[in-house]
Amino acid sequence: MKLSLYSTVLSIVVGSTLAFAPSSFSTISSSPQHRNVQTEIYERKPFITGNWKLNPSTKGEAIQLATEIVKSITPDSPDVALFVPFPFIETVQTVVGDKITIGAEMVTPEMNGAFTGGTSAPMLKSIGVQWVLAGHSERRTINQESDEYINAQCLALIETDLSVILCIGETLNEFENDLAGAICAVQLKKGLQGISKEVIQAGRVAIAYEPVWAIGTGKVATPEIAQDVHFKCREILADMYGQDIADEIRILYGGSVSPDSVDGLLMKPDIDGALVGGASLSGESFGRIINFQPEVSQEQDAVVGGDEAGKKPGVVKRLAKKVKSLF
Ligand code: PGA
Repeated sequence: MKLSLYSTVLSIVVGSTLAFAPSSFSTISSSPQHRNVQTEIYERKPFITGNWKLNPSTKGEAIQLATEIVKSITPDSPDVALFVPFPFIETVQTVVGDKITIGAEMVTPEMNGAFTGGTSAPMLKSIGVQWVLAGHSERRTINQESDEYINAQCLALIETDLSVILCIGETLNEFENDLAGAICAVQLKKGLQGISKEVIQAGRVAIAYEPVWAIGTGKVATPEIAQDVHFKCREILADMYGQDIADEIRILYGGSVSPDSVDGLLMKPDIDGALVGGASLSGESFGRIINFQPEVSQEQDAVVGGDEAGKKPGVVKRLAKKVKSLF
């Protein structure tokens, strides 16, 4: 399981070398001349995802876009997924191979039967889909999907052995009335009802915090605002599942993410990736977002040790962020 491979408990002693062991507790020998500060942190592999929505218009254009995007994938890339319209799923899977995960933008909660226009979780699984979005704000508003319906979608996906990105977020009015945390709490608690700790630990659930006022508006939340809500979301998840499990869940930010804003957002300790709409429709823009470049100071580099064998730079940079946030 990709997430568990990279969801690693790390121990850091300032100024010491850093050990990294996937899926296990990793200890670090403390050096007496350094500050005696030891902190356990969880590392989460960045997850960069694109949501094509009702785009592009033709299969030919979908092939072209996927062909451009996949060129940006390197062995050092974070986890990358594209959520594409149903008719393009298999074609785009063929274009990107195993370099990018191709997911679906929604699912019908029922498994089969008289539900005209529906697409079930078993259907998606049968064509090799692993990840599916649930609760996107456009579906909450345009299709009137309720928290109960979204929860049924999540449960259907989990029952079918698929994975879900649960999208949550407040409206502008709610944001202005300081209700972001409260709205996220309701949507998290209702959306994830009935999903077990074991499923979360298996890395089969990610959260996308997408303030409605930032989606498709060009008004990206500042890294500070996003971090604040992500932190609150993790507190809510800790309340639901315990701190250890909450620390393993990847929480992505979505809402007007662009090549200009991605680096600042991904610098923040609780922002583990992005759900990108408009900018995922350009190979160049999405390629830059995939290859985000959090600024890492020389001091942080020194603490992290730069060239840890077997680690992807994205992971090393995430760790550097954590170090900065801790000290
Ligand atoms: P946007 O869309 O990046 O175009 O704001 C994000 C989303 O709706 O997931």
